[in-house]
Amino acid sequence: MGTMERMRSVKGFDAIVVGEGAAGLTAALKLAPLRTLVISKTKERYSGCSHLAQGGIAAAVGPGDSPELHFEDTLTAGAGSCETTMVRVLTEEAKTAVEFLESLGMPFDRDRSGEFVLNREGSHSVPRILRAGGDSTGRALMDALQKAAEKAEHITVQRGAMAWQILTGNNGVTGLLAFEAEKGWTRVDAPFLIFASGGAGQLFQYTTNPAEATGDAMAMAIRGGLPVRDLEMIQFHPTALKAGIGETRLPLVTEALRGEGARLITRDGTPVMNGVHHLGDLAPRDIVARQIWDVISRGEEVFLDISGISNFSSRFPTVSRLAGERGISVEEGLLPVIPAAHYTMGGVTATSEGRTPLIGLFAIGEAAGTGVHGANRLASNSLLECLVSGTRSAHQIKTEMKTRDPEQDRGGETIITLKAYPPGFQSTWPDLRKEIQRIMWHHFGLKRSREGMAVGMEELNRIGTIFKLHSEGVTSQNALPAEPYEETVMMLEAINLITLAREVGKAAQANPESRGAHFITY
Ligand code: SIN
Repeated sequence: MGTMERMRSVKGFDAIVVGEGAAGLTAALKLAPLRTLVISKTKERYSGCSHLAQGGIAAAVGPGDSPELHFEDTLTAGAGSCETTMVRVLTEEAKTAVEFLESLGMPFDRDRSGEFVLNREGSHSVPRILRAGGDSTGRALMDALQKAAEKAEHITVQRGAMAWQILTGNNGVTGLLAFEAEKGWTRVDAPFLIFASGGAGQLFQYTTNPAEATGDAMAMAIRGGLPVRDLEMIQFHPTALKAGIGETRLPLVTEALRGEGARLITRDGTPVMNGVHHLGDLAPRDIVARQIWDVISRGEEVFLDISGISNFSSRFPTVSRLAGERGISVEEGLLPVIPAAHYTMGGVTATSEGRTPLIGLFAIGEAAGTGVHGANRLASNSLLECLVSGTRSAHQIKTEMKTRDPEQDRGGETIITLKAYPPGFQSTWPDLRKEIQRIMWHHFGLKRSREGMAVGMEELNRIGTIFKLHSEGVTSQNALPAEPYEETVMMLEAINLITLAREVGKAAQANPESRGAHFITY
């Protein structure tokens, strides 16, 4: 159905950035003076994962450290699967990324002599994690970026708009189709489109990611026939707060606590990581997470013993608050923990500048699959990646802008076809999301068996068929799905989740080798 003529249309932008997190805002700021529209799915000021980050930003800025050492630690954590040229870029540009944040006034924690306070997290051979507000780094980072974006005349931020489809012409991107609160379906014209909408933790029953982390960029790429990579590489954070079970996301318990000496123990005090890895509690994340899961699967509980950390509440205000809100006093020294899906190492196939095979389309931050994290991301490399890839994509776009001709490119543009869904079906979207999450947790979680994955794929295909039947049955009605914003977003997110879940499942089945986060039990 040709729907373009009935649709609201927005013009006048050079670039559209999908996602208002660390990667998206860094790119938007660096795109100056190009006219840049940043769209964010939620209506809130703080959304996505960046503002939730507790542990901080890895950068070799301390004594005895070097980009080379950071490079090697990243490769070791990545279990031999990292793209080394990507890691080189990341670790060498870390210092510049920190300087950029300092120029925005980011209040990094410093000691009395003004030097950065550097923390240690899993698999880092030296203390190298910069933080702000103790364990409130993400919030401080987002405040700095948002303040700068608010002042920047070239940036327009539109909250309450969900990206749905890449628009393409003869020569690459021509814009984006989005669903906007109060305005409905809207096409936005621009020759450059940056996917910076984060990962897909919501594929799983237990996750540290908020409700909006539904892998929208990856699903859009899959629908558009663009390559995605490493989708089976899902990182599970070892320590989410178990008391949060039943909530949309589990509160994170930062790995920095183990860097400060906290120990993983069972209820009777047995250390969980003894004899498992020479780095003990600071072993690579995938190893710690699997060990905890093994213990939990035997019916035992796992706790983080924080009793050895002095002045806990003032040094870790975020964890203290999250625990307190759930009836756990940090004074008692024990936090009940469980692993939870945390980070999507794969994503839309992209270069270190975020370039994808489609001219004008860029993917950065967690939405991108560059191979930089290999099979297991090194702690606190993700905010860093957002800053580095955001900066590099903006520079690349400014170069390419000189040779793009949007008017000429628009020829041969895709005709948008939207399928409609029968009235009433929307009431099942939340249930379908839960069903997908249950299947993914059980069959594509921390440990994957050939039989389990086959059962999981069958179940995902069954859900996929329900979607297909519903959409095919009503396409002739030519109706666009346009319920109130929240309901439409829930439906579109469910479609994204099932689209991506099947691709994650396929990728996991196709990779017979246990490595890093992808662990096969046969
Ligand atoms: C944490 O603070 O443990 C999370 C940091 C990260 O995911 O890199």
